Amino acid sequence: MSIQEKAYAKINISLDVAGKRPDGYHEMIMPMQTVSLCDTLTIRREGEGIRARSNLRYVPGDERNLAVRAAKRYLEAIGEEGQGLRIELDKHIPVGAGMGGGSADAAATLRALNRAYGDRLSREELTALAAEIGSDVAFCLVGGTMLATGRGENLQPIAPLPPCYIAIVKPAFSISTPELFNKLDHAPIRIHPDTAGLIEAMEQGDLQGVCRRLYNVFEDVDDRRMRSIRQIKGELLDGSALGAVMTGTGSAVFGLFEDAEAAARCCAKLKKEYGFAFVAESVGTLL
Ligand code: C5P
Repeated sequence: MSIQEKAYAKINISLDVAGKRPDGYHEMIMPMQTVSLCDTLTIRREGEGIRARSNLRYVPGDERNLAVRAAKRYLEAIGEEGQGLRIELDKHIPVGAGMGGGSADAAATLRALNRAYGDRLSREELTALAAEIGSDVAFCLVGGTMLATGRGENLQPIAPLPPCYIAIVKPAFSISTPELFNKLDHAPIRIHPDTAGLIEAMEQGDLQGVCRRLYNVFEDVDDRRMRSIRQIKGELLDGSALGAVMTGTGSAVFGLFEDAEAAARCCAKLKKEYGFAFVAESVGTLL
């Protein structure tokens, strides 16, 4: 057996936090979109145990890797825990970027294994398994355009992002998700995004209306790295993006462009400056 699957990144078109829950997680309100930036997974039945290998040295091969955890949970769920697996990850999604790279790999592992094992788990069973692995894994499993609430695992389909080019830029530094959530807990959120207005603009295919409502509450956290984030947003807008915002807990920022050439030009310039830049497009449902 050798199966391949693409693991697509996500962006948070906007991100709101409604409060902290008794279980320590936060109540999220996030319109999310799958984008064409992706890792490629190849899974083989081989040897004993489950291990991953990647083109990036610092990506762990053991259970710290969400793809390994997903494979282990999947095999347990179908009663095949003895099976050895090798997961090869050709990674392109930047790590520590707020683009759900690890979650996308876990989700792609679940899709690939379920296909290889003859759809032994239903869509509902697979989604429940995904949510246990991480808050963004359920979205990455199903993909498309969704309003994610709760920890991020409650998904409701919404209209896709109006046609546009998505220039994604990541500075050299990464941001740890728990660290930023912790900072958020120590300061009140003063401004919340207009999620309902954003979804309505998406329903109407109104890209300008969407761009006016791009907002991420994590950008208001007291953290000196947010200065660089604001700088990148400014450069995307100077390059004629209609709007720009940080995705998830960063450090990647994306700008939405109507014009492909302007997006490519801006991206080439920011790639030289920040190291990573990519022009992506929206991707529809994956499962
Ligand atoms: O669920 P996951 O392991 O991806 O979450 C990583 C961390 O992000 C959690 O340990 C928690 O600190 C934070 N988190 C949160 N509320 C969420 C999702 C994640 O506080 N809804």
